[in-house]
Amino acid sequence: MIKGFIFDLDGVLTDTAEYHYLAWRELGKKIGISIDRVFNEQLKGISRTDSLERILTYGNKSNVYSEQEKSKLAEEKNEEYKKLITNLSPDDLLPGIKEFISELKQANMKLALASASKNGPTLLKQLGIAEIFDTIVDPEKLSNGKPNPEIFIKGAKQLGLSSIECVGIEDAEAGIQSINAANMFSVGVGDQKAMQFADMFVSDTSELSYTSILDAVKKKRKGVER
Ligand code: BG6
Ligand code: MG
Repeated sequence: MIKGFIFDLDGVLTDTAEYHYLAWRELGKKIGISIDRVFNEQLKGISRTDSLERILTYGNKSNVYSEQEKSKLAEEKNEEYKKLITNLSPDDLLPGIKEFISELKQANMKLALASASKNGPTLLKQLGIAEIFDTIVDPEKLSNGKPNPEIFIKGAKQLGLSSIECVGIEDAEAGIQSINAANMFSVGVGDQKAMQFADMFVSDTSELSYTSILDAVKKKRKGVER
């Protein structure tokens, strides 16, 4: 029985995945590494410091900067990102998200946020949905980021539920791996190729619906019992 839904933030609740991309691209320009959307898929769901490491490796510059310089670069990216999200408001919820979340609450589902972003709590407030979420996993307290299952397992625990009672929703390949490894039903949004291992796929957030997800969960579990 499904009792909780655990959400990724960037690219699922709002289109900040785009702003992360723009901010990394800007930083890339400054350090002579050109980043495109194809490479950016590998950064989705990945923490700020790990993203920088991936970018430096991609640009053959992994040994160029000291730890101190790297944290300055990561901070610069975050400052640029924060500029881009200054005016984010409830109007920036992705299509259908507001309705989907209300549908879940009406069905007495518990909601958790499992985002790698340290900007998560601020963003939920800006989007006007902070009160609706029962809990937020603190990414600073994780030993392992996505694709490790830790963040989704913690989300379920914080809701007082077991993994099998939760559904995880993601737009990143690393995120789907994380949900699957947590033994949770995974719903992927957006890029079909990146979402190829999701239990259920929707191309757009407006297609998210509580009843169709429940049907898909039941179908999968029937298949397993057979
Ligand atoms: C994830 C994003 O949600 O959060 C990544 O998909 C981002 O792109 C990560 O790097 C960390 O975010 P922040 O806001 O802590 O830099
Ligand atoms: Mg995401």
